[in-house]
Amino acid sequence: MTIRAGLRWVSRLAVATAMLAAVAALPACQPKSQATSPLAIVAHTVDDHSYAQPQVARVTHVDLDLTADFVRKVLKGTAALTLSTQANARQVVLDVKALDIQAVTDASGLPLKYTLGPNDPMMGQALTVELPQGAQKIVVHYATTGDGTALQWLDPSQTAGKKLPFLFSQGEEINTRTWIPTQDSPAIRQTYTARIVVPSSLMAVMSADKLTPKGEAVPGHADQRAYRFDMEHPIAPYLIAIGIGDLGFKAEDARTGVYAEKAVLDKAAYEFADMGKMVDAAEKLYGPYQWGRYDVLVLPPSFPYGGQENPTLTFATPTVLAGDRSLVSLVAHELAHSWSGNLVTNATWEDFWLNEGFTVYFENRIMEQVYGKDRADMLKVLGYNDLQSDIKDLDAAGHPGYTRLHPDLKGIDPDDYFTTVPYEKGAAFLRMLEAHFGRRKLDAYLSGYFQRYAFHSMTTEAFLADLRQNLLHNDSDLESQLKIHEWLYGEGLPDNFVAPTSPLLDQAAAQARALAGGADATTLAVTDYSYPQWVYFLNALPDSLTTDQMAALDNAYTLSRSHNDEILFAWLMQAVKHHYQPAMPALHDFLTQEGRGKFVEPLFSALMAQAGWGPDMAKRLYAEARPGYHELVRARLDKIVR
Ligand code: BES
Ligand code: ZN
Repeated sequence: MTIRAGLRWVSRLAVATAMLAAVAALPACQPKSQATSPLAIVAHTVDDHSYAQPQVARVTHVDLDLTADFVRKVLKGTAALTLSTQANARQVVLDVKALDIQAVTDASGLPLKYTLGPNDPMMGQALTVELPQGAQKIVVHYATTGDGTALQWLDPSQTAGKKLPFLFSQGEEINTRTWIPTQDSPAIRQTYTARIVVPSSLMAVMSADKLTPKGEAVPGHADQRAYRFDMEHPIAPYLIAIGIGDLGFKAEDARTGVYAEKAVLDKAAYEFADMGKMVDAAEKLYGPYQWGRYDVLVLPPSFPYGGQENPTLTFATPTVLAGDRSLVSLVAHELAHSWSGNLVTNATWEDFWLNEGFTVYFENRIMEQVYGKDRADMLKVLGYNDLQSDIKDLDAAGHPGYTRLHPDLKGIDPDDYFTTVPYEKGAAFLRMLEAHFGRRKLDAYLSGYFQRYAFHSMTTEAFLADLRQNLLHNDSDLESQLKIHEWLYGEGLPDNFVAPTSPLLDQAAAQARALAGGADATTLAVTDYSYPQWVYFLNALPDSLTTDQMAALDNAYTLSRSHNDEILFAWLMQAVKHHYQPAMPALHDFLTQEGRGKFVEPLFSALMAQAGWGPDMAKRLYAEARPGYHELVRARLDKIVR
């Protein structure tokens, strides 16, 4: 678990009041059936993490024309926004943060009046633009600044090729406002088009159809090329994404392929060879893939997440390039988001579990179909164990409210609070339904859900309304028997939870017990363990293990030099806990060579918890590693290492 920051309870009352006023301005008498229909419920939901007042004026399309300046590290140009407005709308409110706003004009270039509201450290500023009567389009002229969180500009030394710079964006959850001035709420879906000008040695890719795969000339600028993109489906703004680098492309099959720095392209293409099979499996489960192509972009090591489900183009950490395709469940996960997340999207960040819980469930079904039940079961158990320890830690830390699927995030940066609860408790909820209804019925329900709400955003309350209609058939006895309310709104795990099991992992736990009981490390039956077995085995090692036993393990299985970053991470966590000196050079290399939050944050936390030697070492390592980390990871680590 990472409680990413001290929780900040800032009053958002003023904003909420303004938005309620906007809601009240809606036609007063909705027909009753509509008022309780899931989409009507969504329409009345307020997103506490956006200043926008979509009921008054709403952005429906973003057209970007931006130039990437790698010397000044800014994107500069225009965002032309198409609006849908109430007849009497006088202004439109956008979300911006750390942007340098130069002007706002109408479509013909005439300046429009605008004001920037107070700057909130989490929310940024409201950009309120005065609208001429009937205006349907405004153009914001702007540049990004160094204070944003979405863009990371990498020096050549931080890339695989070492020769050319790199830029990538990370929009989720509320970072898009730091590179695009728009309404940054997942309930305000927008189509987008873009023209991106880059140095001619680099290639630009986005989460959209690529209209100019090789770029096109920029008249008068021989040293630049322009790339154009089109996303014709309305998507949540956190899914607008860009990558610019010395990229190559390798097709896997007719509709899937890999973009990566040329230096890692072959390795990446090998690793993800099963992408096509995964898309086929996903379609068999829950209906046609709706986004055209499915490609993966492999990023440099400072990418802060494992993966990000940007439409048509998943962004992925290079830490999954294990060389043996063992970590490809990440692709299954991000691919599954093409349904749960991108097609049907959490309407607010309190509904995040609708994205991640559904996706973890779906991911595991893809893994089962492509790689078999044993492998899928092991992954399920690993996830379940993470959930249990997060629930325990959240309770111990006095935050049981965050063991809810639908937490209260008013005034809280959704990024400050990240645990496996929405992921694994969400998936567990669907597995409970699966156990009761059987796969055939649940799958039919889920396919229907994705169809009914395709290209719409969804809240927990609206989902419950849909579940009642289409799976529970308004049987309220069944609803209480299944403890639906407790699952969606209660803390911890309801007792009708179905615990996953895996005999292969039971064997791994037995080996850990054998070692703890004094067995010689070289005699353990672990030699051909798969990655989940190693991780389970390592996590099960007792605190009482001696340095000699750690050394014997390391010598027998070269754990400090594992090429699998999940195994290496689990081993280094033990190395820190046991103050196992010989692994410290490996720890140094790991922390300074990649910046995935899931790995570096727990390792620094573990170091800080080692009384005596730990904090000093953490501070030294962090001083060295910090410049290479993404701003989002730095922000969290600044609160851990101090
Ligand atoms: N969308 C998430 C990543 C994310 C979550 C970004 C919250 C920003 C805020 C992505 O789909 C995800 O869950 N990634 C996981 C990998 C997955 C296999 C569980 C990750 O990055 O570790
Ligand atoms: Zn996810």
